[in-house]
Amino acid sequence: MRTVLVTGATSGFGKLIAQAFLNHGDTVIATGRNLKERKDIFYSERSSFHGRLVELSMDVTNINEVKEVEKEVLNRFGKIDILINNAGYGLFGALEDLKDEEIRYQMEVNFFGTVNVTKIFLPLLRTSKGKVFNFSSVFGFMGFPMTSLYCASKFAVEGLTESLRGELAPHGVQLCLIEPGGYRTNFGTSLNWSSKEESTYALQFRNYKNLHQKISTKKPQQPSEVSNGILKLSLKKHLPMRKVYGKDATFSHLLRNFLPSCIYFGLMDMVYKKIFMRESN
Ligand SMILES: NC(=O)c1ccc[n+]([C@@H]2O[C@H](COP(=O)([O-])OP(=O)(O)OC[C@H]3O[C@@H](n4cnc5c(N)ncnc54)[C@H](OP(=O)(O)O)[C@@H]3O)[C@@H](O)[C@H]2O)c1
Repeated sequence: MRTVLVTGATSGFGKLIAQAFLNHGDTVIATGRNLKERKDIFYSERSSFHGRLVELSMDVTNINEVKEVEKEVLNRFGKIDILINNAGYGLFGALEDLKDEEIRYQMEVNFFGTVNVTKIFLPLLRTSKGKVFNFSSVFGFMGFPMTSLYCASKFAVEGLTESLRGELAPHGVQLCLIEPGGYRTNFGTSLNWSSKEESTYALQFRNYKNLHQKISTKKPQQPSEVSNGILKLSLKKHLPMRKVYGKDATFSHLLRNFLPSCIYFGLMDMVYKKIFMRESN
């Protein structure tokens, strides 16, 4: 039986991933901030998957909590086979308007959180010749105005994961980047929209917020596509470097990777000007 550890399992993709692997018959270590106290989150799964679901509190930015979880996993199971670094959130706004502590915390959760958990669990993953899935995003391969810090955190996750893939292949550990487009989880509600009272970027910020709102009310893509997709990938002998989810992300991926750079950026300069500098909405 495989042992699977999921970060940020209290909501969205993380919770769906935990459910998908439990349904498949795996043992799931669901982790999240203060999860042990948040009894409602896995209320029904607790009785259905008794013994195969372990709920542990783990804030990915808190090294002591990550070490505690590793100790507990080692004592109880002696291994993990799959690590899913899913925990994350979005900080949106113009760089000049963001507070220093907001900037650092974005990197702390999305990037250093992934580093913390991966580093501490690598000895166990090497033993089991395990698999690691790191959540990136469509914003992990294309920059976008008003999202510079979120993009930077996900680009950093991409660099980390691509590099580790080569470093760990000789030790039997495989890594894969998960690159979803827009899915309706709690991501939208937990976004930190940061702006200043009298900002030079007020128009761009407002236009982006409106655009985000418009996109969010469109027919949603199903987040279970991603959770079921990761379950399917986990059963493959060889993991791809990256997996893109969603029509929006697939379209962006094609644009970004198959258009010559000068055409792509020329096009984006025009599109961004049109979207972000529009006076009325
Ligand atoms: N939804 C999308 O459209 C989309 C697209 C591309 C990529 N992603 C990525 O997908 C991942 C999951 O997001 P989601 O869409 O499922 O959003 P979500 O529903 O808001 O879930 C985010 C999860 O991350 C957890 N989290 C945040 N900070 C944490 C920390 N310091 N330590 C531990 N857990 C923490 C949250 O815990 P709490 O319950 O404690 O807040 C929550 O469980 C993120 O990495 C996100 O960047 C999402």
